[in-house]
Amino acid sequence: MIKVLFVCLGNICRSPMAEAVFAQLVQEAGLDKQIVVDSVGTGDWHIGEGAHRGTLAMLRQHHIPYNGQARQVTPNDLQKSDYVVAMDGGNVQDLEALDRDGVLNGKLFLLLDFAPQQEVRFVPDPYYAGNFDEVYRLVDMGCRGLLEHIRKEHDL
Ligand code: 4NP
Repeated sequence: MIKVLFVCLGNICRSPMAEAVFAQLVQEAGLDKQIVVDSVGTGDWHIGEGAHRGTLAMLRQHHIPYNGQARQVTPNDLQKSDYVVAMDGGNVQDLEALDRDGVLNGKLFLLLDFAPQQEVRFVPDPYYAGNFDEVYRLVDMGCRGLLEHIRKEHDL
């Protein structure tokens, strides 16, 4: 089983959106027996909450289900994941600080590493900006690129 973990700050806006979009793409590709998806936040403010209404509105608009609840990343999450996919540079710094055993070596990515045609490298935080449309567009591009990457790497 290939394990993909999306990471943002609060686990209520960007990483749940990526989890839901990617899970839908995996299911459409018939790969849900081979690839599992999860998401976490580096912060603890929203533990136990459902996704932000802005994220849920975008997912609903695209007919993508989601009913996850926010949780905070643990060292065990990093240990057991094959692809740890962060939204921005702050997430990368926080994850590296948590990774005392060096388990992230070679498996930490930015989502937009997989959307090189985009001009931005980071998925912006929509919590205050409210730009959920733009975030969805970037998340969707990144998830499509990530699935292509995994399929090539694992011959799927
Ligand atoms: P996310 O957005 O990292 O995409 O889930 C945020 C959610 C909450 C906060 C910041 C970003 N916050 O400061 O509470």
